[in-house]
Amino acid sequence: MSNHDDARADVAVLGLGAMGTALAQALLAAGIRTVVWNRTPGRADGLATDGARVAETSAEAVAAELVLVCVSDYDAVRGVLTPIEDRLAGRVVVNLTSGSSAEARSMAAWAADRGASYLDGAILAAPAEVGAADTVILFSGPQEAYDAHRQSFETVAGRATYLGADPGLSSLHDVAVLALMWSVLNGFLHGAAVLKRAGVRAEAFLPLARDGISTTAGWLDAYAAQVDAGDHPGDDSTMATHVAAMQHLLEETVSAGVDTTVPAAFKALGDRALEAGLADRGYTALVDLLLSDRSH
Ligand SMILES: NC(=O)c1ccc[n+]([C@@H]2O[C@H](COP(=O)([O-])OP(=O)(O)OC[C@H]3O[C@@H](n4cnc5c(N)ncnc54)[C@H](OP(=O)(O)O)[C@@H]3O)[C@@H](O)[C@H]2O)c1
Repeated sequence: MSNHDDARADVAVLGLGAMGTALAQALLAAGIRTVVWNRTPGRADGLATDGARVAETSAEAVAAELVLVCVSDYDAVRGVLTPIEDRLAGRVVVNLTSGSSAEARSMAAWAADRGASYLDGAILAAPAEVGAADTVILFSGPQEAYDAHRQSFETVAGRATYLGADPGLSSLHDVAVLALMWSVLNGFLHGAAVLKRAGVRAEAFLPLARDGISTTAGWLDAYAAQVDAGDHPGDDSTMATHVAAMQHLLEETVSAGVDTTVPAAFKALGDRALEAGLADRGYTALVDLLLSDRSH
């Protein structure tokens, strides 16, 4: 190792792209002894200045008990871990690489076969946000492995969140949040486009847009309970009322000469709900339609 040979590292970070570097920086800033490795040498130079031990090989790096891996994708994860598979027994391997729940479960089984504990993580933040008090990173896998290293996890993400034993839960929650994010952003951009045609600036739309998002967020407690109960009373507004408003949105969109992709998707779902006899049910009845999955 090129730095601080005297101290054994507490955490290894394998993969020093934008995110791996940010993770290592946050650990070092908190005084956690950190060893780093990257496939392409040279990316660790700045971290060495910050006090990292730089491993020349991945095998050197996994002397640490906690091993964080953050590379481009799961093929790269296997590319990193396979050459050192005989060194993983007894380690806690935390894979913070983005991927699917199936990949996470498969990686967990692979790690278990090699005697390692495996946590899968999903980072809900940009590199500049790593280490902040309100940053969220999701973790799933064996709880004892999470509890043993909670302090390091809370160092890289103040709102580190443990979701459960199924290693696929991090990826699943990640995509659930992405679905929410793009729905809100697409709705905002669609509204802004329709208004722009009428000469209204997006900044002028902001107060109403913010109110709309916050009003909708206020419905979620009751709606989550309805989804869990499988009961969709529609006592605030029925599906029929929603679908009539969707038609209105679609017509205004066509009149404005704006792309109809977003409102047409809303309307297509709404129409299916009416066809399914849900006209007098609440909006949350859509979840049963989504669960009926006609794509297979
Ligand atoms: N950046 C973000 O805003 C962000 C946010 C949330 C989640 N993430 C996730 O974090 C992960 C890393 O993202 P990033 O932004 O750090 O990407 P990045 O800057 O492109 O870095 C990619 C890293 O993967 C390594 N790598 C790629 N293929 C490899 C292989 N076959 N073997 C060994 N190492 C390999 C690269 O090593 P070399 O230097 O040798 O090429 C580099 O260290 C991704 O899964 C990403 O989705 C990123």
